[in-house]
Amino acid sequence: MTGVICAMEIEMKNIREGMTVTSEKEYAGVKFVEGKKFGKDIVVAVCGVGKVFAAICTQTMIDNYKPDIILNVGVAGGLSSSLDVKDVVIADQLIQHDMDATALGCKKGEIYGAGTSSYRYFPANSYVIDRIKESAEIVNSERKKAGREPLRIFTGTVASGDLFVSDKEKKAELRDEFQAMACEMEGAAIAQVCCVNKVRFGVIRAISDSADEGSKMDFGVFCKEAADNSAELVDMFIKRS
Ligand code: ADE
Repeated sequence: MTGVICAMEIEMKNIREGMTVTSEKEYAGVKFVEGKKFGKDIVVAVCGVGKVFAAICTQTMIDNYKPDIILNVGVAGGLSSSLDVKDVVIADQLIQHDMDATALGCKKGEIYGAGTSSYRYFPANSYVIDRIKESAEIVNSERKKAGREPLRIFTGTVASGDLFVSDKEKKAELRDEFQAMACEMEGAAIAQVCCVNKVRFGVIRAISDSADEGSKMDFGVFCKEAADNSAELVDMFIKRS
């Protein structure tokens, strides 16, 4: 079974569409919808914004549904000048940019005292990354046949934190400190929960804004189209699962 977690309803809408629902249950205030899409078993949940909601949802999904793979899907702020709105970023690793125990000798983003090996960057599962990339190629060949613009696909580091990034200083910091390509508010928390539970995961985020002074306006304008691009990849991933 594949589990899909989005922070917001707008990011989940197209993924839930066409699903044959077998159960709807609420745990910890989150609605988990289980069923089939394209004949494949899936469970989907809208977790809410931020790392705490994301972590609660991920652990609850793992405990109750035992998914083989969890995908975190939605929109992000673009940190790289190569990125335009609606481009898609597949995370190869994730970091919590607001984790700061530098006073205790940690690097920025490193989780102090987390077992023997220090946690900083959480790598996404390579099998899942490969399947997402294959799905992206198929989506683009189908788009081409239909005369639609192909999606621009990038792979890189995603930085997560409880902050909607909307100024160029913070944007530059995330880029320079973490070599991050995109920022959002849930992915690295989901990564950490999947990591400690040994569940394979991937993160797909399309760019809704440039994480600078114009981000609030761009987010309002482009969030839906960006979310739909991410959802298109997820549909293909599920089809091929
Ligand atoms: N998600 C979409 N845009 C974002 C931004 N600028 N900062 C954090 N999360 C986001």
